[in-house]
Amino acid sequence: MSDEFTSIDNARERLASVGYLADEPASLVSFLAGRLGKPVLVEGPAGVGKTELAKAVSRATGRHLIRLQCYEGLDEAKALYEWNYRKQLLRIQTEAADTGWQQVKDDIFGEEFMLARPLLHAISAEEPVVLLIDEIDKTDQEFEALLLEVLSDFQISIPELGVIEARTHPLVLLTSNNSRELTEALKRRCLYLWLDYPTIERELEIVHLHAPELDQAVARKLVEVIHMVRSLDLKKPPSIAESIDWARALLLLGAEDVDQAVLERTMSIIIKHRTDLDLVAERVGVKLGDGLFGRQAG
Ligand SMILES: Nc1ncnc2c1ncn2[C@@H]1O[C@H](COP(=O)(O)OP(=O)(O)O)[C@@H](O)[C@H]1O
Ligand SMILES: [Mg+2]
Repeated sequence: MSDEFTSIDNARERLASVGYLADEPASLVSFLAGRLGKPVLVEGPAGVGKTELAKAVSRATGRHLIRLQCYEGLDEAKALYEWNYRKQLLRIQTEAADTGWQQVKDDIFGEEFMLARPLLHAISAEEPVVLLIDEIDKTDQEFEALLLEVLSDFQISIPELGVIEARTHPLVLLTSNNSRELTEALKRRCLYLWLDYPTIERELEIVHLHAPELDQAVARKLVEVIHMVRSLDLKKPPSIAESIDWARALLLLGAEDVDQAVLERTMSIIIKHRTDLDLVAERVGVKLGDGLFGRQAG
């Protein structure tokens, strides 16, 4: 089954039914992306649910997910397509000695000799897919330029073959951790969603979804502590992923409260920098020890 979201509420409900709690802006763009046929650029800090949104859209719409993980130096050959040189060579070797160049060329630059990479896969899929272009900010501007044709015209030009047009319209989500400014040309082609750390209430719902057995009072305190930790000037603030990990860990450890002792024992689950550890122990740990926490963060 593959079907589009029919309204903002429909998007929110169906995303929730597959385990993703979308807020209003996220539900809105998920709905509009399908209706307007435009890619969505999702930006925000690490671990706030950008990648998961694309996966959830795929689950909720019943569309197959095709993922292109970006990295520094990613190029056309790994993102779009590549000629299968080995197979081409073999073919050349088996051609009769008197075969003319034109004939050879026609033979070896056919689809049979192409290795499709994620973007070409998404474009040529028979059934509509969700295409996730993850962490686009890790590539360079040249790569962005390469994407423009795919994102605005849903087609790929291959010099030896011609233009390959999309058979079906993919739903495209691009994510960025905001490590560099993306080009205007790319942004112009996309709907934009800024995903930030959630409110305490929403994060509580997310934590509950991933660790339902955790006592509600403990969960609330955990989320409040996380929010307080985020307000410090840390190298790497804890994300939703860390909140979830922490909740699961506290559950396993049978913690009945998030007090100074518990924080100090389990802090490395949410904090991953030496200097941040010291800062949190000093600023948050002490507050939990003093019993001042509830009044400050409440
Ligand atoms: N709105 C949400 N509903 C449910 N789970 C969420 C939500 N946002 C984030 N998560 C969870 O948080 C974790 C981190 O999300 P992820 O998509 O990997 O972050 P990002 O791609 O932004 O770095 C995932 O395990 C995901 O399941
Ligand atoms: Mg991600």
